[in-house]
Amino acid sequence: MENTNLKNRNLISISDYTKEEYLKILDLAEEFEANPRQELLRNYVIASLFFEPSTRTRLSFESAISQLGGKIVGFTDAASSSTKKGESLKDTILTVCNYSDLIVMRHPIDGSSRYASEVASVPIINAGDGSNQHPTQCMLDLYSIRKTQGSLDNLKIALVGDLKYGRTVHSLVEAMCHFNAEFHLVSPEELKLPSSVKRHIKDANLEYYQYTELEDVMEHSDIIYMTRIQRERFSDPMEYEKVKNSYVLQRSMLENTKENMRVLHPLPRVNEITEDVDSHPKAYYFQQALNGVYVRQALLTAILGLK
Ligand code: CP
Repeated sequence: MENTNLKNRNLISISDYTKEEYLKILDLAEEFEANPRQELLRNYVIASLFFEPSTRTRLSFESAISQLGGKIVGFTDAASSSTKKGESLKDTILTVCNYSDLIVMRHPIDGSSRYASEVASVPIINAGDGSNQHPTQCMLDLYSIRKTQGSLDNLKIALVGDLKYGRTVHSLVEAMCHFNAEFHLVSPEELKLPSSVKRHIKDANLEYYQYTELEDVMEHSDIIYMTRIQRERFSDPMEYEKVKNSYVLQRSMLENTKENMRVLHPLPRVNEITEDVDSHPKAYYFQQALNGVYVRQALLTAILGLK
């Protein structure tokens, strides 16, 4: 039996954890879903450092911590921290380690969380670094997929939109390579999945198929994972204008989809899913966001050695 002790472990990339460790977190999250209000974090202080905007990740972490009786310190905007005065990330992390038991950090630069973990004396959870990784979103995506499909194994996953800059997609592809997934990749030519991420699929001896039309994947998918075109990652605004309306999922397009199919989206949405989809029984993205509370409770308590 593999050791799945996550105490004092960082979570920077989804590949930092094994398949057994993912499953441990998902099982723990199920326990928290049944009983989310416990006093497990009563004596703990969690730092929440958001150098980049967030609604779901930050607030679901805060809700997870509050429901477990923990305290939160931190900032929601780099401009309100001493970063604005020129303080280095290293000095910020060394300082915040003095005030907290664990740091949750979102930052616009790829690799920033890994760097923070190399200088920190407390565990770091990456809440999204640039266009690189978003491992806690990935855990809640896995939880949502298992909950809606009954299993993570042998699924046809369609990933739609900005596959180049979408960090949630990068983490999810890596994770689903452990579960014999078949990947259907829908994007404009300019926003294809990077070859470094496709490498994980090839290394796992799995298949991927690339498309430019959303209609081509609707009928055979178990999961349709929509994503926003990430305007903030484009260096040339004209390039964003060219692709911003590439995919719009409308209610009528769900007609001939599989019975078990569910639409996921990490959110925020811009215009890639019309609002009339929200009330459709196959739309799952708001429940997906709720699952983030339970998964983050599982991660925090496992990493602090409480579960
Ligand atoms: N899914 C996600 O990361 O959303 P936020 O940017 O609102 O945290």
